[in-house]
Amino acid sequence: MRFGVLTGGGDCPGLNPAIRAVVRRAAAAGHETVGFLDGWRGLRDDQSRPLLPADVVGLERRGGTVLGTSRTNPFAKEDDANKVLATLDRHRVDVLVAIGGDDTLTAARELHRRGKAVVGVPKTMDNDVRGTDWTFGFHSAVAVAVDALERLRDTADSHHRAIVLEVMGRNAGWVALATGLAGGADATLVPEEPYDEEAFLGRVRRALAARRYALVVTSEGVDLGLRRGAAGAKDGFGHEILAERGVGAELARRIQAATGAETRSAQIGHIQRGGAPEIFDRLLASRLGAGAVDLALAGRTGTVAVLRGVAVEGIPFDEALGGARIVEPAWLDLLHTFDA
Ligand code: F6P
Repeated sequence: MRFGVLTGGGDCPGLNPAIRAVVRRAAAAGHETVGFLDGWRGLRDDQSRPLLPADVVGLERRGGTVLGTSRTNPFAKEDDANKVLATLDRHRVDVLVAIGGDDTLTAARELHRRGKAVVGVPKTMDNDVRGTDWTFGFHSAVAVAVDALERLRDTADSHHRAIVLEVMGRNAGWVALATGLAGGADATLVPEEPYDEEAFLGRVRRALAARRYALVVTSEGVDLGLRRGAAGAKDGFGHEILAERGVGAELARRIQAATGAETRSAQIGHIQRGGAPEIFDRLLASRLGAGAVDLALAGRTGTVAVLRGVAVEGIPFDEALGGARIVEPAWLDLLHTFDA
């Protein structure tokens, strides 16, 4: 058999270990793998490279993706969709493994509906894919954000300031939630909860009164009623580039105006998406990459390899798609136990 593999959407730590797992698991069963470059763009434009076991040596510890990625939507134009189908035929690909988040997996489902054998592997630092307990990339991103918060704590404490840390997260606040919980923030804002200025400022005031500094974590996607970013730029799937809105900077202005405390903000942006994958993400990516090959070899295409409890399972595309997996109420309840 011949496997194809691509990585699409925003990169995150764990993509390289997942590619390595696909190649090694396929090779162990006597099959070869071809990698398509820059996500769906590689299939549209017929850009590929062979992937032999020797090509994936050391990928268990490398950040980013050696295949490259893009936010290309292959089904935005029918002409592009036909090119994708033709490339798969030209390369005699029997099964495509599509590694990506919601957008990539939605395109993979469409390809499956058009008669191609596809298996999905969920990834995203946002942890917002349905049907899987965790996505790889998330734990690594949170480790970076918690490290940033700890550094901000030192300087906030020294200067007796409030500091706001803005992390990624469009509709789902998993990264902010985990950073706030693990890093001991005084207030954490996520898109799942409507912004309540009075309650928020109350938390900041209590922290300032108790120890003369305050730490806030916010998702970039929290709705403060701000207008779109100045450039109004959008990615290939039509999503607004949220970092331009500057939610963290706006919160800092509001804190300073309301409390009089000197306030700063930090936006760590794409720093969260780079670097070597944490061990948890290396293990999860390896299991899901190998799991995708196993599903294909068992004839179970049209599925997504996911983590359920301690087991890797295959679930239909429809179960993994249909909107972001947002933070569940029990997590929010836990988060607010630690509010100032
Ligand atoms: O991968 C999703 C995400 O991490 C979002 O949280 C964030 O808004 C977006 O990517 C940023 O994407 P880009 O790399 O296109 O700026």
